[in-house]
Amino acid sequence: GKIIFSGIQPTGVPHLGNYLGALRQWVKLQDEGHPKDRRFYSIVDLHAITVPQDPQLLVQRTRETYASLIAIGLDPNKSVIFAQQDVLEHTQLMWILSCHASMGYLGRMTQWKSKAGMADNADPLETSAPNKPALKLGLFSYPVLQAADILLYNATHVPVGEDQAQHLEFTRELGNSINHLYAKPSGPSRVPFKGFFLPQTIHSPAKRIMSLQDPTKKMSKSDPDERSRILITDSRDEINLKIKHALTDSVPGVSYDRDSRPGVSNLIDIMYYMDESKYGSPEEIAADMFGKDFSLKVLKEQVATTVADGLEPIRERYNEQMARSLEDVDAEMGRGASMAKGTAAMNLQRLKAAMGIRQHK
Ligand code: TYM
Repeated sequence: GKIIFSGIQPTGVPHLGNYLGALRQWVKLQDEGHPKDRRFYSIVDLHAITVPQDPQLLVQRTRETYASLIAIGLDPNKSVIFAQQDVLEHTQLMWILSCHASMGYLGRMTQWKSKAGMADNADPLETSAPNKPALKLGLFSYPVLQAADILLYNATHVPVGEDQAQHLEFTRELGNSINHLYAKPSGPSRVPFKGFFLPQTIHSPAKRIMSLQDPTKKMSKSDPDERSRILITDSRDEINLKIKHALTDSVPGVSYDRDSRPGVSNLIDIMYYMDESKYGSPEEIAADMFGKDFSLKVLKEQVATTVADGLEPIRERYNEQMARSLEDVDAEMGRGASMAKGTAAMNLQRLKAAMGIRQHK
């Protein structure tokens, strides 16, 4: 069977990009997978603190993220759902990986450069730019913690959006170098380290949903403009308003072309991916349902209706989840964490033994 791992930062209720680009795939892998598959889905709170966080808000957003994962259809009886911080092995493996991770490779990560506010051609290791707050080590080593998340469970498949592809490439590279150094197919040890699987990236078809306000940028939680994204718990009115104000263009009629009409095409993509079984392709939606004689106003109304209909059951389940007692949710998350820990501790122990790091009883 497959071993599936993926993570989401506790930034509160996910947006349509998270949902269509990754989370919906998590649910599919749960409901349509092989009975022998194992799934680990983590709320990565330790990744969240690589940028400043308000402590109370972080608690609240972790709660909202968990409620959202259940609301979209993840089931703690079928998937292991847990908070990264509850399984301390993540940070232990991160240290071990840090001792093998290339600074040069990390410096080339586009996500680091953009979060650090650096130009593409900047020297990644020149961290003392004048008049800028000091760059933090945790932000730089973010991908090492992500690699630890994945390798700790010996994952074979990782469902993510396109923006995570580079981090996964890094994970495979790091896993491969650890394998070369320490893996032994067999041997006298009772707990041999046979090497990590080099995990495969799974992209959903909707691997890149764009901002409603600037369709050249991805839809993102950190965009200060709330109208740039639709949250999966937004009301029908909010969805209508955000899509009505989405940036498009002044070309007459409806057509699909991601390069010349990014705003319109993003809306058509959203409509298509909300209910893939209903339409053949985004191009078909543009040509058959709309075409040259339709206004963008009609398109937007239709997109808004499709999105609001699709999200309605999620919104209802989310409200039920948020009405549960904190004790109840904590206990459920604790059960997830102890299941995760069982696998994590065993895998870590194997690697440590192969490296000569012994547990002293
Ligand atoms: P995060 O929390 O930013 O996003 C969660 C998932 O949503 C996807 N995503 C998108 N997909 C399509 N279009 C968009 N506009 C869009 N925005 C976000 C992301 O690709 C992601 O799959 N570093 C990760 C969390 C992480 C992780 C891991 C993922 C930590 N450890 C191990 C996989 C495996 C992140 O910040 O995701």
